Amino acid sequence: MTGNGNIPLITILDTTLRDGEQAPGCGMNPQEKVAVARRLEKLGVDVIEAGFPASSPGDRESVKTIAGVIKDSVVAALCRAREADIDAAREALAGAAGSPRLHIFLATSPIHMEYKLKMTPEQVLEQTAASVRYAKKFCDDVQFSAEDASRSDPDFVCRVFAAAIGAGARTVNVPDTVGYAMPDEFGGRIRYILEHTPGMEKARLAAHCHDDLGLAVANSLAAIQNGARQIECTVNGIGERAGNAALEEIVMGLRVRKDFFGFDTRVDAARLYGASRLVTQVTGVKVQPNKAIVGDNAFAHEAGIHQHGVQTNRATYEIMTPESVGIARNQIVLGKHSGRHAFEERLREIGLGVEGDALESVFAAFKDLADKKKLVSDRDIEALVMDASAPVPETWKLDHWAVSTGSTLGATGAIRLVHRESGLRKEVSLGDGPIDAIFQAINAIIGKEPELELYEIGAITGGSASQGETMVKIALAGRVWNGRAVSTDIVESSVRAYLAAVNAMEWDLAREA
Ligand code: KIV
Ligand code: ZN
Repeated sequence: MTGNGNIPLITILDTTLRDGEQAPGCGMNPQEKVAVARRLEKLGVDVIEAGFPASSPGDRESVKTIAGVIKDSVVAALCRAREADIDAAREALAGAAGSPRLHIFLATSPIHMEYKLKMTPEQVLEQTAASVRYAKKFCDDVQFSAEDASRSDPDFVCRVFAAAIGAGARTVNVPDTVGYAMPDEFGGRIRYILEHTPGMEKARLAAHCHDDLGLAVANSLAAIQNGARQIECTVNGIGERAGNAALEEIVMGLRVRKDFFGFDTRVDAARLYGASRLVTQVTGVKVQPNKAIVGDNAFAHEAGIHQHGVQTNRATYEIMTPESVGIARNQIVLGKHSGRHAFEERLREIGLGVEGDALESVFAAFKDLADKKKLVSDRDIEALVMDASAPVPETWKLDHWAVSTGSTLGATGAIRLVHRESGLRKEVSLGDGPIDAIFQAINAIIGKEPELELYEIGAITGGSASQGETMVKIALAGRVWNGRAVSTDIVESSVRAYLAAVNAMEWDLAREA
């Protein structure tokens, strides 16, 4: 595959919805997963790993829904090297609108084989070939991953890959599952595998790196230099423990240093920031301000000498422009007189492609907001897009709320909700402050007491007219749901965020009942 100017392209497999989502605190509801998948497709990701169908009925459903709507990216489903897992994955991919991929993994390191799998190396070899052969009956595009490959005997990995390729695998993947490898060492291993695996010319070699020692991106780039042609990564680097290689860093590393690597990707970099914000919003997991490419300070120049430099010539301290990754340098502000054309233009400029019905509702919400708030910023627009792109079916709809609070009297919260089937319910509760009081009142109505794991409120932009953005994470019986909302009133944004999480919980519980 080559891009503009005939630069060869690296295949990007994004696993935000599988490896990313399985990390603690990064859970997403099905609607959010579809919204992320659509965004990844627009971003130009080659392969979207949508989930691990055998792991739960919820994952199976999400993979099915995503596969049914994604056309321009391959949709992959993960499975262990066993028939039941492969069956769950192939069933989830059966109605794929585009191209499906079955991704089988089996560990090859001595510690995993002995203590986890309780299998001999010969059994691992046999199961690799048998599982790939079985998967090939249903899907032409099969990927095989040697879990914990970086701590495995390289010659054994070559034998396992030869067996997988012999059985029909088109991609073989070298995961640094525990983030243990060093760049030179990992690059050397990739080169060794490439040169010593019989049949390797029939398959693509991939790398999948974790960030336990902060080297996931460096190791992925070293893998490319040594012959890997598919890189597995996640938006914002979310994932197990310290996370996975960050997609935005891989993409921009290759693009900014095309002179050095001689490779590029199909990714539309101007959509990177939008994708990062979407993942932050649906998971509630923020990136640190100094995060490369998408952090709040990634393009901020604080020191006087730097500011002077960039004023004279931006290239003195900037190796890429914020616009190139979708961060608008001039935060153009829209207002109530801005028309549909200006609004759509702005959406495009900030890398948020919205079409059809979603565009109608985002534009209507923009007009409402512009009436309440004189100036509407990019962050406000992004929040409106978010609300329209991942709607949770409303079991409970907000009808009315009121709080009273003071320094001597306790706080009281009153709420009226409308249930989808049973209609109006109201409740009043006391609490430790107005937010606690109103959340207690909601709990009394829904008859459940989820634990509030996260409650965060922030201003979307500066100034007292800013919208308050609230993120809420609730947990019940070991499961977690996120909710977020924005409003010019912070109590209202809190109530709406809490209700969004409650609705996500109710929806999941009802589907499983
Ligand atoms: O880290 C890992 O080994 C994985 C595999 C399943 C590819 O995520
Ligand atoms: Zn992983």
